[in-house]
Amino acid sequence: MQDPKYVKDAFSGIAKKYVITNHILSLGIDILWRKKTADIVYKKKPKRILDLATGSGDLALAIEKKCKDSEVICSDFCAPMLEIANSRGLNTVLADAMSLPFEDRDFDLISVGFGLRNMEDWSEALVEMRRVLKPDGHIVILDFSLPDNKFRRALYCIYLNKILPFIAGVITRKRSAYKYLAKTIGEFPSGKSMCNFIESNGFIGAEYTSLSFGVASIYIARRAE
Ligand SMILES: C[S@@+](CC[C@H](N)C(=O)[O-])C[C@H]1O[C@@H](n2cnc3c(N)ncnc32)[C@H](O)[C@@H]1O
Repeated sequence: MQDPKYVKDAFSGIAKKYVITNHILSLGIDILWRKKTADIVYKKKPKRILDLATGSGDLALAIEKKCKDSEVICSDFCAPMLEIANSRGLNTVLADAMSLPFEDRDFDLISVGFGLRNMEDWSEALVEMRRVLKPDGHIVILDFSLPDNKFRRALYCIYLNKILPFIAGVITRKRSAYKYLAKTIGEFPSGKSMCNFIESNGFIGAEYTSLSFGVASIYIARRAE
C-alpha cells in the first residue's frame, strides 16, 4: 500500500528519464517482458483494452503492436508520465485507478505493467478493475517479484537495495525514488500468494508465469461473476 501523493511526485520527477533508465537497469530485458505480456494479452483476443497505470506507455505500445485489431485506452494519474504516452501516439485518459471514469463492464481486458504495486490499496484497485471489466474479461498484470531460490533472492536483494538506487540516482538524480522501488518490491506479494490475493478480490483462475528466474512475473485471471 503506497502513499499516492508520494507516488505521483516520484513519477513526475523521473518521467523524462523513466524509459531509458528502465532499459539500462534491466539491460533491455524489460522490453522482452512487455513483449511476452503482449503475447499473453493477444491470446485472449480482446476488442477493448484498458492499460492501467500506463506511465509513459511502454506496455501499451507493445500491446498495440501485437493486438492490431484491438482498441487500447491508456490511463494514469500522473500527468507528466501520461504526456509522454500521449506524445507517443497513445489514446490517453488522466485517471486514478482507485476510481476509474469508465462505465461498469466496459473492457474485455485490463493490463497493468509495474503499476499495481505502486497503488494506494491493491485490493481496492482490483475491485475497481473488476467493475469496469466485462463478465468474462481478464486482467493481465506484469510486475516485479522476488526469486524463490534463496541464493538468487539474496543476490537480487543486494542489486535492488544497493546497486540499482546508485545507478538510477546517477541517471535521474532521484535516488530516493529507486530506493522506494526496492522497498515496494519486497512488500509486494509474488507467485502463488499473488494469485491467491487476486482470487480473493473478485477474480478466478489466477495463474502466473515467472520471468528471468523470478525477478518479474506475469499474472492472468478472469473476472468472477
Ligand atoms: C512504473 S510506472 C509503469 C509504467 C508502464 N506501465 C510500464 O510498463 O512501464 C507506474 C505508474 O503507475 C502509476 N500509478 C500509480 N498509482 C496510480 C493510481 N492510483 N492511478 C493511476 N496510476 C497510478 C504511476 O503514476 C506510474 O506512471
